[in-house]
Amino acid sequence: MDIKSKDLAEEGKLRIEWAARSMPVLKSIMDRFEKEKPLAGKRMAACLHVTTETAMLMRALKAGGADVRLCASNPLSTQDDVAASLVVHDEIEVFSIHGEDRDTYYKHINSALDHKPHLTMDDGADLVGTLHSDRRELLEGIEGGTEETTTGVIRLKSMAQKGVLEYPIVAVNDANTKHFFDNRYGTGQSTIDGIIRATNRLIAGSNFVIAGYGWCGRGVARRASGMGARVIVTEVDPLPAIEAVMDGFQVMPMNEAARIGDFFCSVTGDINVIARPHFELMKDGAIVCNSGHFNVEIDIDSLEDMSKSKRWIRDSLEEYTLNDGRLVFLLGEGRLVNLAAAEGHPSSVMDMSFANQALCAEHMVKNAATLKPTVYPVPESIDKAIAALKLESMGIYIDKLTAEQEKYLNSWEMGT
Ligand code: ADE
Repeated sequence: MDIKSKDLAEEGKLRIEWAARSMPVLKSIMDRFEKEKPLAGKRMAACLHVTTETAMLMRALKAGGADVRLCASNPLSTQDDVAASLVVHDEIEVFSIHGEDRDTYYKHINSALDHKPHLTMDDGADLVGTLHSDRRELLEGIEGGTEETTTGVIRLKSMAQKGVLEYPIVAVNDANTKHFFDNRYGTGQSTIDGIIRATNRLIAGSNFVIAGYGWCGRGVARRASGMGARVIVTEVDPLPAIEAVMDGFQVMPMNEAARIGDFFCSVTGDINVIARPHFELMKDGAIVCNSGHFNVEIDIDSLEDMSKSKRWIRDSLEEYTLNDGRLVFLLGEGRLVNLAAAEGHPSSVMDMSFANQALCAEHMVKNAATLKPTVYPVPESIDKAIAALKLESMGIYIDKLTAEQEKYLNSWEMGT
């Protein structure tokens, strides 16, 4: 293991306990796993944000009989107290330290892979990428995997299309019980949380520019608007652009938005979305952050190049003084601001995301032998079961179709 300090374990344990209270679906899966041991004998390498919610997932996998090793899926998202508690209280091998440099980040991924996993669990596909480039000797022993996030699924689908993906992977992100809630409400709330923790600025009355109107962008826009911001959306795809207009937001190219934004947040999954031409136009004091998976969305190299100096002002808030004297503030080094400056998505949405992870790991153990090396959707039965369990855990009950209604829905003969 390689963590910051075992001394943080008690603090981590309490915070994990707090998260657990909002994760009833994962808890019910853990209880069943404890009895049935569906992952018995399986070595797993997990590359995830090391948070209190991830700790609950690790416990569930261990309860299911898996022998898990965990590393971070982002250098800035590790909660060191959680890593310590997993090592000390759960005897799980963890390799992650908040703020680790790039070399250590990849060293930790390799340490997780040294476990010779049968199953991989990834968030962003860096573990799978490393496996398919530097650690190919391990591919033979791998049965299957799961992927958590939009960016990772896009990378894996590209690998599958090029014929280089060597084993089946389930795209957890594509489950309705994942992206409807995690990407929209989770990213929505935690991104605003990160921006507020980093800046302590008032959102109300600000011009809040959001690049990308996917599930995450929609969530951030809704929350920023709810806090009184004038939301401006930038898009490259006409369809979500129309949706943003009809949701009541202004839509314009980034070149126009750059002149008027107070806050900028990228959530596109693409590279250099906020770049030199935009920094050239920004108002003095603009605040810039990213909530997409990788730190590629903001062209930080250009920002550095255009600046005569920079300094840290507060945690997660760096001030760049441009050559012409304007100030631009960058949050969380351009890494995902919801995990770098806050604690990621709240436990209640991660409950469904990680229920998908646990059940898809079980699904892989049962079915990997019959699957091809490509990207698979989450089985509908898993998605529906998680939705039903979550609703039940909220004490909310819904109607059932009557036999007559069911018959009507399955017939074509009856018109007006
Ligand atoms: N991704 C976003 N929020 C997260 C969280 N709280 N835990 C793990 N992964 C996350």
